[in-house]
Amino acid sequence: MMNNINHHGHKQPPAKKFKPSSPAVYTKKQAPIQCSGPKKMTLEEQRRNLPIYQARSQIIAQLRKLDSVVIIGETGSGKTTQIPQYLYEASIGRQGVIAVTQPRRVAAISLATRVSHERKTELSKLVGYTVRFEDVTSEETKIKFLTDGMLLREAIGDPLLRKYSVVILDEAHERTIHTDVLFGVVKSAQKKRKEQGKQPLKIIIMSATMDVDLFSEYFNAAPVLYLEGRQHPIQIFYAEESQSDYLQAALVTVFQVHQFLLLTTF
Ligand SMILES: Nc1ncnc2c1ncn2[C@@H]1O[C@H](COP(=O)(O)OP(=O)(O)OP(=O)(O)O)[C@@H](O)[C@H]1O
Ligand SMILES: [Mg+2]
Repeated sequence: MMNNINHHGHKQPPAKKFKPSSPAVYTKKQAPIQCSGPKKMTLEEQRRNLPIYQARSQIIAQLRKLDSVVIIGETGSGKTTQIPQYLYEASIGRQGVIAVTQPRRVAAISLATRVSHERKTELSKLVGYTVRFEDVTSEETKIKFLTDGMLLREAIGDPLLRKYSVVILDEAHERTIHTDVLFGVVKSAQKKRKEQGKQPLKIIIMSATMDVDLFSEYFNAAPVLYLEGRQHPIQIFYAEESQSDYLQAALVTVFQVHQFLLLTTF
């Protein structure tokens, strides 16, 4: 719960109660923000509407050709939910399982749930997840979301990661001991499989932002694909008086904008 003592120990005025009818902090006369309201799109339409969809065929062509690749794309562009499906749809890596690692278990579960909805399959069938103490996969699973820690555990039992045809190391900028060790494990599995003439292992490093050169260099000068995001129109509003507590004012404004849009949209 928020209290009204800041970290310098000074007492601050109590948070202003937000009243739906109170004037917004931005009182400058402006045309209301245009908001078309929520549109009901089918899952298929939502997929086609993502920025990444524009580059679908180029991405598939690159993924088919390359052993290792780094993919950078703005947040929300569709990397995590779409790339595993593009691989599957293009039959890349069909001989094995496509692994997608996540630093957090909540993300692994939520993404697996979303992707299984998009594929209109039951979770644990085509799409599943493995996190500590919970394995929601089956013999049929071809797209598997798992935490970095879980893939690392699996690698202890099978350093060649034979079950997998593709390993997607997602959120690669969030480096922990697990991920750093995993990078080494995956790179070595790819090399050993090649030397032993086994099924190749494709490695995809993904992030919204990171030191690209470092990762590309580590994975044998892997090419980097940049995905464009979506830009939204921005309007700037100014407060008429200077605000003593910027954070508080920003928070109140967010709620006011939210309320204002609700009132003008519905
Ligand atoms: N669990 C979910 N429930 C509902 N919609 C989701 C869910 N996960 C993703 N989406 C939808 O799919 C879109 C693409 O998300 P995705 O996670 O693939 O993007 P991303 O490029 O990986 O972003 P980030 O860099 O933040 O990880 C989101 O904008 C959202 O509309
Ligand atoms: Mg993502």
